[in-house]
Amino acid sequence: MNDILPARDPLLVFDQLTVSYRNGSSTPVLDKFSLKIEAGKFLSVVGPSGCGKSTLLHATGGFIKPSSGAIHLGGELIQGPSLRVGFVSQRYSLFPWLTVEDNIAFGLRSQGRPDDEMRAAVDRLLEVIGLTSQRRYYPEQLSGGMQQRVALARAMAPEPPVMLLDEPFSSLDAETRQRMRELLLRLWTEHQTTILFVTHDIEESLLLADRVLLLEGKSGPARTLEVPFPRPRAHSLPLIEPFQKLVETISQHYGAPLND
Ligand SMILES: Nc1ncnc2c1ncn2[C@@H]1O[C@H](COP(=O)(O)OP(=O)(O)O)[C@@H](O)[C@H]1O
Ligand SMILES: [Mg+2]
Repeated sequence: MNDILPARDPLLVFDQLTVSYRNGSSTPVLDKFSLKIEAGKFLSVVGPSGCGKSTLLHATGGFIKPSSGAIHLGGELIQGPSLRVGFVSQRYSLFPWLTVEDNIAFGLRSQGRPDDEMRAAVDRLLEVIGLTSQRRYYPEQLSGGMQQRVALARAMAPEPPVMLLDEPFSSLDAETRQRMRELLLRLWTEHQTTILFVTHDIEESLLLADRVLLLEGKSGPARTLEVPFPRPRAHSLPLIEPFQKLVETISQHYGAPLND
């Protein structure tokens, strides 16, 4: 009799991932990087500028090929971009010639979803991001924060098992950023997606994630830290001592200033 529950298979597996740019330095940006991430986890990725955060996301999105090693998603090798991985970058990369609702529907259309199902999904997302009355606007008619809400909804719409976000809120003002964090956590909870979230804001990384990945820093190789705080997390969480201790641990890993 087997009374031991089987360990849950990780969804995303980085196996000795090495990335060098052909026109770049001879030292690889990522060097034999290995990590396993379980389905539904929220992982923040932090580190100083140039340490390879975007490179890690671009390789996971299938936009660049590893020099060696591999990335597996659900047991399958990632070999190029696919609808299984959603991407949101710092700039609101919406299609300027499509309306808000058509931007959100874009991924669903490529999946060949039936019209009524697609409309229902778009309506629901418009409601969640609070842009139902702007559904027929074009991106240029929206503020930066609104565009980033649409970009999030568009990436989430096909319900990808993995979402990659590359400093998605860094160009937004503090209040909008706070609302975007709440929206992201809501979408994450509803869609049970697995998230890799790049930020250079250490507090933000700890407020959002289950685990923080510290890419290679001045004082050591890449490692991950569990974030022990239960959810929902209060806005005042950064004021408590255990939170500040973790901020310190992370910034010491780099010798980096806090929230640069
Ligand atoms: N397309 C590219 N060609 C050559 N070098 C690159 C390219 N993209 C990034 N790099 C280099 O790789 C390193 C890591 O970059 P990146 O992943 O963008 O870092 P981060 O996102 O952490 O700031 C940097 O030294 C950067 O200059
Ligand atoms: Mg970057």
